[in-house]
Amino acid sequence: MFHAAIRPCVRKRSKAASVGGPKHSVKFKEVRLYLVERKMGSSRRSFLTQLARSKGFIVDDHLSDEITHVVSEDSRASSLWAWLKGCGLTNLSKMQVLHISWFTDSMRVGSPAAVENRHLIQDTPPALQEGSAPALAPAPAPAPAASVSQYACQRRTSTDNKNKILTDAFEVLAEYYELSELQSSCLVFRRAASVLKSLPWTVQCIEATQGLPCLGDHTKAIMEEILQSGHSFDVERILSSERYQTLKLFTSMFGVGPKTAEKWYRRGLRSFSDIVAEPSVQLNPMQQSGFLHYGDISRVVTKAEAQALGNIIDQAVRLITSDGVIALTGGFRRGKEVGHDVDFIVTTHEVGKEGCVLRHIIDSFKKQGILLYCDYQASTFHVSKLPCKSFEAMDYYPKCFLILRLEASQVDGGLGCAEGDNRGWRAVRVDLVSPPMDRYAFALLGWTGSTQFDRDLRRFARKERRMILDNHTLYDKTKGRFLTARSEEDIFAHLGLEYVEPWQRNA
Ligand code: UTP
Ligand code: MN
Repeated sequence: MFHAAIRPCVRKRSKAASVGGPKHSVKFKEVRLYLVERKMGSSRRSFLTQLARSKGFIVDDHLSDEITHVVSEDSRASSLWAWLKGCGLTNLSKMQVLHISWFTDSMRVGSPAAVENRHLIQDTPPALQEGSAPALAPAPAPAPAASVSQYACQRRTSTDNKNKILTDAFEVLAEYYELSELQSSCLVFRRAASVLKSLPWTVQCIEATQGLPCLGDHTKAIMEEILQSGHSFDVERILSSERYQTLKLFTSMFGVGPKTAEKWYRRGLRSFSDIVAEPSVQLNPMQQSGFLHYGDISRVVTKAEAQALGNIIDQAVRLITSDGVIALTGGFRRGKEVGHDVDFIVTTHEVGKEGCVLRHIIDSFKKQGILLYCDYQASTFHVSKLPCKSFEAMDYYPKCFLILRLEASQVDGGLGCAEGDNRGWRAVRVDLVSPPMDRYAFALLGWTGSTQFDRDLRRFARKERRMILDNHTLYDKTKGRFLTARSEEDIFAHLGLEYVEPWQRNA
């Protein structure tokens, strides 16, 4: 509950209420903010008030019926709404009651941000309010935390993430550290997110996480902040920082990694138009295509679109060989509804002919006029290179990174694209890899992911079994020999692990 001491009395807004400090010109007359002091604290409130006023917003010190947007740092809906209702407002139903994230978004863009669902602090229906009988069945008892393995390959993780609020925050931090090339800090947050994703229950309080692996003091402090207030100050700060936003934007372009993004950022470039206007920046062919098709390939690919691409590839393979093998891998094999690209293994039973098949498929796409971009990488595979010493290295198989043209007419239910886009086709990112058939199971396991699942499989192999696993092979260091596998099940069995289905690998 709110302290009576901070309960403001509703009064007619006096001119003096919004004056104080330097005068700023008002840019947004139709918007009038009130910042709730509770949780925010008075010094942060006055800082945020000054910030908003400097950007042309009206911020009133007192709550009145003229307020259009109430902004609260405390996202506990029931106590906030109980307080608002006790303030004697007549206009409350017309006010937007918003989480601080709306304010942060608005400051970032320098104008009132469009209100999205995630910004709203909604009034709780009476049935769910404190003191009344619970309308929902009680949550299932948490699985004992102590039984959760530190390795993702010993956990089962479906796409049904019960802790999305926490894992989203951790993923922002992981990404931030990855963009800053601080790999070990990045991994701390990836591992923490991965553990939470595997839980069949929602973490409601920090005590419930006792005994869970991969959650250190730092991650727990952030979780506690989110559980109490609905957000993390560190995460909000990163999300609103110019550096993070710019690096995210640049790396969202096909062919731009953290190093290039950082280089551009250091040169003072902040947008795609800055890049295009900068004469010293030479985009390579991959980046040029990424740029050309940015609108399409930055949009998710749907399952139906992935299926349609599978049919196209299937037809191309049939024309070339009766011995072809095609498998959908990546996130779609793990049961995800959407992806950023579509990954396929495309090969032939004839060992040694893989590269040939892949080149024929590319030719076929070219003839059909659907090849918008192709980066073909020939095989660099040789048994003498095995086992791979470097952990995160790319594999040696022939592969290609493509942008294909996909016609709406080929997709069941049409393209999942933005309304009003009547072109009748979209560009889509497709990766094809062609391992020789005797390596198929290793390639399938590696390309199915998730990246975190694979990482932990390799770590488990190394630390617990003295084995080296990669996309090509499994090497037993104790016995000094390679272990063969015809299926993914064989690989799990060699590692002494229970088999984990693809849809349970969303670590
Ligand atoms: P993706 O990056 O496509 O991830 O790589 P994803 O899980 O499918 O996610 P979305 O849905 O597209 O966003 C798929 C898997 O292929 C492996 C990656 O490590 C990942 O596990 N991979 C990718 C390789 O093993 N080698 C490569 O050269 C590229
Ligand atoms: Mn993918």
